[in-house]
Amino acid sequence: MPGSDDFELGRTAGGGGASSLREQEWPNPAAGAFDGVEPRPGSPKPDPILVATSVSRTFGGLRAVDVDHVEVQRGAITALIGPNGAGKTTFFNLLTGFDHPDTGTVTFDGQLASGRAPYELATKGMVRTFQLTKVLAKMSVLDNMMLAAQAQTGESMWKGLLRSWRGQERAVRTRALEVLDQFNMTHMQDEFAGALSGGQRKLLEMARSLMADPKLVMLDEPMAGVNPALTQSLLGHVKRLRAEGITVMFVEHDMDVVRDISDWVVVMAEGVVIAEGPPDSIGRNQAVIDAYLGSSSAALREGTDGD
Ligand SMILES: Nc1ncnc2c1ncn2[C@@H]1O[C@H](COP(=O)(O)OP(=O)(O)OP(=O)(O)O)[C@@H](O)[C@H]1O
Ligand SMILES: [Mg+2]
Repeated sequence: MPGSDDFELGRTAGGGGASSLREQEWPNPAAGAFDGVEPRPGSPKPDPILVATSVSRTFGGLRAVDVDHVEVQRGAITALIGPNGAGKTTFFNLLTGFDHPDTGTVTFDGQLASGRAPYELATKGMVRTFQLTKVLAKMSVLDNMMLAAQAQTGESMWKGLLRSWRGQERAVRTRALEVLDQFNMTHMQDEFAGALSGGQRKLLEMARSLMADPKLVMLDEPMAGVNPALTQSLLGHVKRLRAEGITVMFVEHDMDVVRDISDWVVVMAEGVVIAEGPPDSIGRNQAVIDAYLGSSSAALREGTDGD
């Protein structure tokens, strides 16, 4: 059925190469990066690309985020987990410039990031995707990709026109087609983004984020609502990003996904970072178990049963 994730699975976005992607083992340049890193909130990392210090955000009387210190290791995949309402999306917004902290600072690649606009951060190499995808339904897949390049660099159409728009457009188109090809979405380039399934839109959103040649990709629930086959494909793409040297931080509820792809896990509850550690042992952390008790803890327990 068109629009469903099961549609034409053999050639679905990410599906054409999905089986090969799944079988392909991407090297993990972050293997060993956390040896010797203490599994506790705020622990220093050998080479942090993103550092948040004393970052807080209050809505009315609610302190949604109150993070003392977090360091995100360069080149690794870091998962941000926690029960519903823990403050994960709010923290993501603060890290990526979509919201500004009441207190504290964020540095990205050694430069002050807090207070900067998302497009400024994108030009410096930090991009994000959203929990609900933001692709433009009435534009083609290719146009969505090309627009992302423009939006992410903050380049106005006028500036582009003044500076050899044609030449630039050609370069952007070439890059867009190259990224679509990596995601096995070339055959979808002329389709309306609105005609894609939810999972395919998630893939497109991830592909769009790569138009800015990022150093750090921030993904908010990239697998939510995606069928298992496409999830495997998305996971393969995330591992490929890491293999290419890109740092990934992502919010996720599914502990199987977290254990599959992350090198390090940061756990939030009630706005605070309550635990950090490697994915294999984080589910045994008492503070994490307590935070999930009474909330949707089933996934967490299931994900750790096999240990
Ligand atoms: N713009 C806002 N105005 C008021 N309260 C907000 C706002 N954004 C978030 N909150 C509140 O802040 C808290 C943290 O919300 P947030 O969306 O960051 O949680 P989350 O960890 O991403 O949850 P989920 O897993 O459900 O996506 C919640 O209590 C939420 O209701
Ligand atoms: Mg959220």
